[in-house]
Amino acid sequence: MTRYQNETRLLHGGDYNPDQWLDHPEILEKDLELMKKSKSNTFSIGMFSWSQLEPREGEFHFEWLDKIIDNIGEMGGNVILATPSGARPAWMSKKYPEVLRTNNRREKMLHGGRHNHCFSSPLYREKISIINRKLAERYGAHPALYMWHISNEYSGDCHCTYCQENFRLWLKNKYGNLKNLNDAWWGPFWSHAYSDWSEIESPSSIGETMVHGHNLDWKRFVTDQTIDFYEHEIKDIRQLTPEIPITTNFMADTHDLIPFQSLDYGKFASHVDVISWDCYPAWHNDWETTADLASKVGFINDQYRSMKQKSFLIMESTPSGVNWHEVNKVKRPGMHLLSSMQFIAHGSDSNLYFQWRKSRGSSEKFHGAVVDHDNSEENRVFKEVAQVGEVLEKMKEIKGSYKEAKVAIIYDWENNWALNDAQGFSNASKQYPQTLQAHYRYFWDQDIAVEVVTSDADLSKYTLVIAPMLYLIREETMTRFAEYVKNGGTLVSTYITGYVNESDLTYLGGWPKTLQEIFGLEVKETDTLYPKDKNQLIYQGLPFEIHDYCSILALKEAKSLANYTKDFYANTPVITKNNYGKGTAYFIGARTTFDFLEAFYAEIAQEKQLLNKWVVQGDKEVSVQSRDFEDYTYQFVMNFSEQLKEIQVASSGIDLITGKEKNKNLQLQPYEVLLIKVNEG
Ligand code: GLA
Ligand code: ZN
Repeated sequence: MTRYQNETRLLHGGDYNPDQWLDHPEILEKDLELMKKSKSNTFSIGMFSWSQLEPREGEFHFEWLDKIIDNIGEMGGNVILATPSGARPAWMSKKYPEVLRTNNRREKMLHGGRHNHCFSSPLYREKISIINRKLAERYGAHPALYMWHISNEYSGDCHCTYCQENFRLWLKNKYGNLKNLNDAWWGPFWSHAYSDWSEIESPSSIGETMVHGHNLDWKRFVTDQTIDFYEHEIKDIRQLTPEIPITTNFMADTHDLIPFQSLDYGKFASHVDVISWDCYPAWHNDWETTADLASKVGFINDQYRSMKQKSFLIMESTPSGVNWHEVNKVKRPGMHLLSSMQFIAHGSDSNLYFQWRKSRGSSEKFHGAVVDHDNSEENRVFKEVAQVGEVLEKMKEIKGSYKEAKVAIIYDWENNWALNDAQGFSNASKQYPQTLQAHYRYFWDQDIAVEVVTSDADLSKYTLVIAPMLYLIREETMTRFAEYVKNGGTLVSTYITGYVNESDLTYLGGWPKTLQEIFGLEVKETDTLYPKDKNQLIYQGLPFEIHDYCSILALKEAKSLANYTKDFYANTPVITKNNYGKGTAYFIGARTTFDFLEAFYAEIAQEKQLLNKWVVQGDKEVSVQSRDFEDYTYQFVMNFSEQLKEIQVASSGIDLITGKEKNKNLQLQPYEVLLIKVNEG
């Protein structure tokens, strides 16, 4: 049994950078004391240690790391050991400039920063092989080794000659010959057909790239090339330590906490053993309510859980503020426990932090940390972290437990890329990920669990599948949608769906036939509105506002649930329902305000019995999420508001956080969280 298999605790701890403190043995000593006091058990180390591990080419120093790993091990802690490719030593950039990234303007970057190496450079790959192999040989059998953390937050692209060559190889492999490529990219448009492979280059901001198929393939290539680099990194590690699980830390795009835009994690997910990711919501910001943000946090954590349909890890979060938001506000008292519990509620088995000890110099010296520059356990942040550690110990039995969901929302990376590239509609209002967040919001408000899956997911286990704005849709996806509905599923789709195929070429002959059958209608036109333009629909006797997008529909078998009230398409259908096989397909033809989505989904949730049975009288700002284990359901009740709240639930139970028996009327202080263990026997 490995450390990983044996571990029964939820993970608490985080990124530890002892490499910054090697000249301060008293600090390293103090760390061990504070680790215990904060109830931390897991540390990720080594992600930025290359210049300490190999200060000169071929000269390796592992003694300091031996000691750190031994110390953590002796304390009963886990080590998540990183490979150092995220940042390289200066000697390497100087001697082998090919490791440096080239930007899309074909400018070679200088040494500096991090996360900016070339993914193709044979030399970089060789250097990373050497050091990764040494790490695996030296620590592979260490009893404290819990998991491998490959590199750090892979991102970006490189346009050097190696990468150009790999892109061409990737294209040759995909298309076989130039005729196929020219057909897929609609080559003759503006004279963009190629007559030799060597003419093809990556898209650049110097030359305008209007060839959508080209842009889309480049993005796909970047994902594949990143995965290829990752596979290269893990090759020897896998061979030397087959029992140790491997992860790499994923991200989100920050301001709106939408899925990370530049890599297709849906694809990457199958290459890692455990999903882990770095979550940095801007709590207490001035543009949304706490509940608005909490719903987005819920969405993205649900997405990470859904990738492998398993519990995942929060690899990084902050105990306080960060250093890279527009305004770096600290978490208010109580928010740290609440936000940590939310991760667990949505399926995480950890809360790990960036960073353990606040760095003394450079760009992260003011980033939140468990241990501040005061080096003390007496400050507020440390105490709140220790409290989270204590609570995680009390609830460890839920580790690995499952979270059931009957509702799926589809997020598709390729669709997002193609839609963003599409010229037409209105760039400012496309808002694909934000639209999904809006649909998700109804379910979050109502405490109904959701999975966020890709277009390739197996849909059969869901009662309701929501696929808004699937502008790019493969024939094969349409066929699977048809099967799903025929077999009794309920499918919801919206405006701007079904325009282009996987090559970003439009479907010919009207709206795709399979979609016409499923939804019992044809989309004839899509009107894009100016921000001040509004339309309206009447649904169940009530008016709801429409903005941004209106599809003009011709019904076949579908029936209209609501019509437009204005413009030249007044009195034509906007919301429709179609019985198809044993199932039902709804089409939301226009972008509405959220109150319509609420009314619409309330009806479906009622009819399909999706409502949360444990919540008798809920509150939109009190989120309830559950995880199941054996005969028990663990109900996380989280007050994402600044007010005192009361909700009513169906059964009483013990609150694992306070150890107190709770009756069916639950009172919650601002930001309070309860974890009620309910016997469902
Ligand atoms: C990312 C990185 C960390 C650190 C944090 C700061 O998540 O992986 O190394 O820079 O950001 O928030
Ligand atoms: Zn390159």
